[in-house]
Amino acid sequence: MTDMQNKEKDEIFREKNGQIGDFAFGKEVAQVFDDMLARSVPMYAEFQRMISEMAADMAVDGTNIYDLGCSTGTTLLALDQSVPPGVRFVGIDHSVEMLEKCREKLEKHSFCHAFELVQADLNKGIRIENASLVLMVLTLQFIRPLYRERLIADIYQGINHNGALILVEKVLGEDSFFNRTFIRYYYDYKKRNGYSEMEISQKREALENVLIPYKLLENRELLLETGFRYCDVFFKWYNFCGMVAIK
Ligand SMILES: C[S@@+](CC[C@H](N)C(=O)[O-])C[C@H]1O[C@@H](n2cnc3c(N)ncnc32)[C@H](O)[C@@H]1O
Repeated sequence: MTDMQNKEKDEIFREKNGQIGDFAFGKEVAQVFDDMLARSVPMYAEFQRMISEMAADMAVDGTNIYDLGCSTGTTLLALDQSVPPGVRFVGIDHSVEMLEKCREKLEKHSFCHAFELVQADLNKGIRIENASLVLMVLTLQFIRPLYRERLIADIYQGINHNGALILVEKVLGEDSFFNRTFIRYYYDYKKRNGYSEMEISQKREALENVLIPYKLLENRELLLETGFRYCDVFFKWYNFCGMVAIK
């Protein structure tokens, strides 16, 4: 059986819940997380493939690749196939349950590279060393805005010259018309993937104070102001965007 067939279905917001608490990456979410991302992030498999394609060109033997907010290790597994053997991986996440799932998945797939999984709160900053590549896939949006600048500066400091940061984020539209329209298209996408109106609205409420998206141009400015030499968009689907920045 493949992982896709094996996945537990995400039904977390299926029943009506009187009081919706803040979304948390605990046990319940970790259990169904791969199904949740496959059904609620547009073109998830394709941009994971693109990241591993870029990583093949950017990763340098003898350096580290960091995946910040590695969750269940989907990106780490994709990169295991594409980067040189002397690369060491560091997966970082705040959620113990996600890291447990990640370790299980890496072991099950006989992960080839040296790796370390670290539990840390990125709101407190992070020490990055000898990195040819740092990944933040749908994670910066969960870092409190107050701490984002410092986190990006920490990442920048630990990336080697010519190294890269790959950032994938949910983004706000550049004006309110596009913002509203793109969000409507996004909810239609979720409906096509089997989520009900109630599931969509309960999850939106749970994420309200937890997932705080910036505009594409705000993220770009953050990267360039931190010192990255240039930055390009490699992926865009309405309110989702992938960027790559070079030091
Ligand atoms: C949407 S998921 C990332 C998805 C994953 N990168 C992928 O591509 O499959 C966000 C992850 O960030 C982690 N996270 C959220 N806030 C964090 C924090 N302050 N410090 C570290 N990890 C955090 C969550 O536990 C979760 O696993």
